[in-house]
Amino acid sequence: MNLSHDFFAFAYLVASIMFIFGLKGLSHPKTALRGNRFSMLGMGFAIVVTLFHPNVSNYGIIVGGLAAGAVIGVPLAMRIKMTAMPQLVAALHSFVGLAAVLVASGTYLMHVQDGHINAVLLTELVAGSAIGAVTFTGSLIAFGKLQAILGSAPLIFKGQHALNALLIGAIVVLSALFAYDHNVTLFVAVTAIALLLGFLLVLPIGGSDMPVVVSMLNSYSGWAASATGFTLNNQLLIATGALVGSSGAILSYIMCKAMNRSLMNVILGGFGTTVEAAAADAAQKSCRSASTEDAAFMFENASSVIVVPGYGMAVAQAQHAVKELYEQLHSRGVEVKFAIHPVAGRMPGHMNVLLAESEIPYDSVLELEEINPDFARADAVLVIGANDVVNPAARTNKASPLYGMPILEAYKSKMVYVIKRSMNPGYSGVENDLFYLDNCSLIFGDAKKVCEGLVNCLKAN
Ligand code: TAP
Repeated sequence: MNLSHDFFAFAYLVASIMFIFGLKGLSHPKTALRGNRFSMLGMGFAIVVTLFHPNVSNYGIIVGGLAAGAVIGVPLAMRIKMTAMPQLVAALHSFVGLAAVLVASGTYLMHVQDGHINAVLLTELVAGSAIGAVTFTGSLIAFGKLQAILGSAPLIFKGQHALNALLIGAIVVLSALFAYDHNVTLFVAVTAIALLLGFLLVLPIGGSDMPVVVSMLNSYSGWAASATGFTLNNQLLIATGALVGSSGAILSYIMCKAMNRSLMNVILGGFGTTVEAAAADAAQKSCRSASTEDAAFMFENASSVIVVPGYGMAVAQAQHAVKELYEQLHSRGVEVKFAIHPVAGRMPGHMNVLLAESEIPYDSVLELEEINPDFARADAVLVIGANDVVNPAARTNKASPLYGMPILEAYKSKMVYVIKRSMNPGYSGVENDLFYLDNCSLIFGDAKKVCEGLVNCLKAN
């Protein structure tokens, strides 16, 4: 079948529109499933159409590649825990980066042979390879930090920013020289410097800033794909890459705003350096603990309760027990609201997904700005496996690495119960001042077991 160029342009436009509908759907939990289906349909359609492209001649390699990807990807996707999603995403971004480097190198070699070389093509190739290389090594470091293979503390050395600036300058100059005088050594040099730059850019970034880094790498991988699209003259890849690139950039901006940080401040790293001092200070203080019976009695007699879910709820898979607790309190006329911090858990929207999975009504789930004024009026707050996102040090302690990050103001409530297993700090490694306040009690234990215990106490009354 010999289909025209216009046919493919039209088919790719249809696929791009499906991706846009997909992204639109993902903006709300109610429409997220539909959005995902649109994106899958768009991708399936794009793959099938591409198989009819006249440039596609060897189906064996394509089927082999798809089969190998499916054999690795399907079991991985089935087995991965929701809490390990950020590192999976980081690993996948590294593949996109590597693919961009390989496609740029392969296309260069192909065009050197057929003699179709010009400055525009060379600029596209070297840009694609450089962005891909930064994405590749940067994502590997992000993966290592999120998987705890590497320490999450920022790695800082003197002259770091000057070195990075020098490397960026070298990439720009050598790329321009390559476009002018297509010497393969320049292409290899740019790629090698970009690989080094990826390592150096992400190593100094502390654990607490990793969400923003992963979303920025997401954006880079989109731009790398877009640059590859120009190289391959493929409109779909250009459009899809631009969608991923711009949505990743917008997400990074939103997360920075949620953490009250500037993007530049995150990129330059250094956050989290005073962790040890903060932890040593907290060792002097003491906190109070409570039993599930005490807490259940308090909640039952409250008129309004705010639940703050965090990473620990995800680890314990406590969301269904939390739903039961919600129903028990709701049936007794207690108003129960859920407070969501934008970076609670380990990925954007992590808590929303878990609460939606257990069918907690959307209208009782509120974002930070909406719920913060309610804490002072609430009779009790139940913090389930959240830590950094309720740490008042972010407001009061200028020396704290969390200082400046907006928090859920649980500490303002009459009574706060925190479910956690030990006195270990949260992701940022910073001790939580909330635990030592007079209105706060800790219920030690696994979040699911404690929530089930609370439900049993309520049922028994
Ligand atoms: P964290 O500050 O990480 O605290 C989680 C708490 O859960 C810990 O105090 C831990 O204490 C407790 N916990 C763990 N397993 C538990 C279990 N089975 N039962 C009960 N408690 C358990 O969580 P957060 O408040 O949600 O804050 C998120 C942090 O992660 C922020 O620093 C954020 O920057 C970072 N981060 C966020 C993302 C995104 S995009 N959301 C991605 C990467 C990193 P114990 O060990 O004592 O139980």
